[in-house]
Amino acid sequence: MNAVPSFAGARSATVGAHFGGLDEALAAKLGSRGELPDAARKILYVTSEMTDFVKAGGLGDVSAALPRSLGRLYDVRVLIPGYRQVTALHPDIEVVARLEAAFGLPACDLGRVRSPDGLTIYIILCPELYDREGSPYGDAHGVDWADNDIRFARLGLAAAQLASGRHDLGWTPNLLHLNDWPSALASAYVAWKGWRVPSVLTIHNLAYQGLFDRTRLSPLGVPDTAFQIDGVEFYGKLSFLKAGIVYASHVTTVSETYAQEITTPEMGCGLDGLLRRRAAEGRLTGILNGIDESWDPRTDGHLGASFSPEDWRGKAANADEVRKEFGLAVSRGPLFAVVSRLVHQKGVDLAIESTESIVRQGGQVVVTGRGEAPLENGLLQLAQRYPGQVGVRIGYEESTARRMFAGSDFLLMPSRFEPCGLSQMYAQSFGSLPIARETGGLADTIEDGVTGFLFRDPALYALLGAIYRAVDAFKSRRKLNTMRRAAMSRNFQWTRSAAGYADVYGRAMSDRVAA
Ligand code: ADP
Ligand code: GLC
Repeated sequence: MNAVPSFAGARSATVGAHFGGLDEALAAKLGSRGELPDAARKILYVTSEMTDFVKAGGLGDVSAALPRSLGRLYDVRVLIPGYRQVTALHPDIEVVARLEAAFGLPACDLGRVRSPDGLTIYIILCPELYDREGSPYGDAHGVDWADNDIRFARLGLAAAQLASGRHDLGWTPNLLHLNDWPSALASAYVAWKGWRVPSVLTIHNLAYQGLFDRTRLSPLGVPDTAFQIDGVEFYGKLSFLKAGIVYASHVTTVSETYAQEITTPEMGCGLDGLLRRRAAEGRLTGILNGIDESWDPRTDGHLGASFSPEDWRGKAANADEVRKEFGLAVSRGPLFAVVSRLVHQKGVDLAIESTESIVRQGGQVVVTGRGEAPLENGLLQLAQRYPGQVGVRIGYEESTARRMFAGSDFLLMPSRFEPCGLSQMYAQSFGSLPIARETGGLADTIEDGVTGFLFRDPALYALLGAIYRAVDAFKSRRKLNTMRRAAMSRNFQWTRSAAGYADVYGRAMSDRVAA
């Protein structure tokens, strides 16, 4: 990790001012009137999920919040596929353009809606690709759609076509902001077509790369010449994510620590060499995610009772409610929560193994999540083994998750890696102290012994050590409340991240002008 050359992330952090008090570097970029020139204002934010409609993980929350936060500086519009969840909310979408077919990708209409708070959202209307029951990526059983290459190449190409300015929308983006592999191909299409539009690719999770067989090159319009080590080829496969890293003007990821981690062989998922090059060029930046204002226990309507550091009674009431909701016995011991996708990344197996010790120490555990069958089954068995002490709900429901953050004392998040992680920030703002591995965004957002408990090794002994420390803190009401207060006072506002993106956008646009 130390071998990594200078990180652009460090520079962007100096810009991390609130818009209320923009620091000089950012103010200079915006010009003397604090406004951007017209040719640098229009951003198309391209995403495969958005909590307004459908959310599979943190990307949905980020896509709902960041464009809105950036809206104070830029004219940001969002582009998203017209999934069933989108068209169901907007049955009468205004069609504003027809995007032509290309290669094996079908033609589609482009719809436009305005959210109640004024955000313009472009929607790709292509029922044969998107009008399905399930998540953005797969069916109700979690099996990926077999035509995901076509579905997301269509998203990438639509973004590139809009950026080409050849459609009469009255609005042509000055920059594409792409997110993860599903939209990454946009930057490659732009390059192959020779359109001069800068792009920023944000990697939310390097482990998902969008790998497809080389026989798919032609239907996706990938030139044979690009299928090589300096292009889109990854161990004999076509990689959408690698395409984005190769062709985007700038790459960001969602915490500074993860930006460094992905340049190491241990955590680079085979792309560390390329990412080291990007870092050396000053084109890899870590910008921490934020959380939106709805995460406030004083005002959150999902909670049975509100609370604040000045009055903890509501927190106790939420704990009682969660215990009831999950069928737990009445208890004065610590309540641990897990709110997570149930996948290897999240270390849920470690959380399962730690439960016996938690219960022995007088604690209880509530879990909500959905994902891999062995983990789901392991959790359900746990609930049977410890009736009244462990409650498990397989599913995905925002309101339950919020009540769990509010009612629990501790959040278990023993992730093996974590690009940023939002749950630990949500938990802190609701006074639940995270117990987490010191990695990625967890390391950047949790202060060990102050707002939560960190451990190093991805192993049971290390997690148990942190749990002992947590139970110890729980025994002293004063210590516990001091930590809760510290956690709740942390500032995870989006305005700070938005300033980091403004800096990166400015650099991507000026590099393009200089090129
Ligand atoms: P990731 O995107 O890797 O899943 P994050 O912590 O960034 O991890 O974001 C996960 C988001 O999904 C958080 O908003 C979390 O509260 C939410 N979430 C995860 N699992 C569930 C669940 N079973 N029910 C409700 N919300 C969940
Ligand atoms: C990914 C990561 C998670 C991050 C989220 C939003 O799903 O796994 O760590 O918080 O994206 O950026």
